Amino acid sequence: MEKLPLAVDHIPEAKRHIYDAEPVLSARELVITFGRVVGLDGVNLDLYKGEVLAVIGDNGAGKSTLIKCLTGAYVPDSGSIRLEGSPVTFRRPQDAREAGIETVYQQLAVIPALDIASNLYLGRETRRKGVLGSVFRMLDKGGMEREAGQSVQDLGIQTIQNMGQAVETLSGGQRQAVAVARAAAFGSKVVVLDEPTAALGVKESGMVLDMVKQLRDNGLAVILISHNMPHVWDVADRIHIQRLGGCAGVITPQSHDMGEGVAIMTGAKTLSG
Ligand SMILES: Nc1ncnc2c1ncn2[C@@H]1O[C@H](COP(=O)(O)OP(=O)(O)OP(=O)(O)O)[C@@H](O)[C@H]1O
Ligand SMILES: [Mg+2]
Repeated sequence: MEKLPLAVDHIPEAKRHIYDAEPVLSARELVITFGRVVGLDGVNLDLYKGEVLAVIGDNGAGKSTLIKCLTGAYVPDSGSIRLEGSPVTFRRPQDAREAGIETVYQQLAVIPALDIASNLYLGRETRRKGVLGSVFRMLDKGGMEREAGQSVQDLGIQTIQNMGQAVETLSGGQRQAVAVARAAAFGSKVVVLDEPTAALGVKESGMVLDMVKQLRDNGLAVILISHNMPHVWDVADRIHIQRLGGCAGVITPQSHDMGEGVAIMTGAKTLSG
């Protein structure tokens, strides 16, 4: 598959090597319609290991639809997706997850009545060793809580103290942090975050953005959807601009300032060169 053109001139020297490799995730000509509404009109995307690709666009531009098509929540009407060069078809989010892509959807994906450790391990619970686990299907709660505590701590979420605490008793920001921690802990190739800082305070947003940088620096590929332009210009390596179901272009924080980015997003300006 041909790589999409990159704004290489505008990528800092120190990071150019990232783009010599093959993209970890590629999508070509993704189309999805909902009755008469065009969700995506033939969108292309390349995502590289070690980069943060931000996706910006107005309400309804197709940002969530795009990542849902990439992560198995929607099945596109047509188009193709490759993971590490091989064609993939994700029919449900579980398929993408098993392939190493973890997603935090815009509509928060935690189960409030369960505790933090159970939320972190949702769908991948560990069983007790021996016959208790294999025959009686007993969950290794202690082990999950210990490991959950460790991964939450690794990610610097110090405000959460008790892994046995029900998620419904957490603040909105802490809930979001649990969802992001879960993605960070299990995403082995790609982590996709749809508006992870929308409900967060300044301190918590900073924490999530630090986590995003940490994931990128650990060699993962991150897709970050956000309406917060300062956040985007702070963490993104490249910025995919989604507009009216299509891609209006890919820029970098070095090639365009926030004002220009927003102008392209709203159609006040088109991307030339
Ligand atoms: N399941 C669905 N059924 C019908 N229409 C849908 C569905 N999912 C998305 N759409 C439509 O597709 C378009 C793109 O929606 P999408 O949620 O991707 O926007 P977005 O860019 O994420 O917006 P926001 O910034 O508000 O989150 C909208 O017109 C939306 O109404
Ligand atoms: Mg959305």
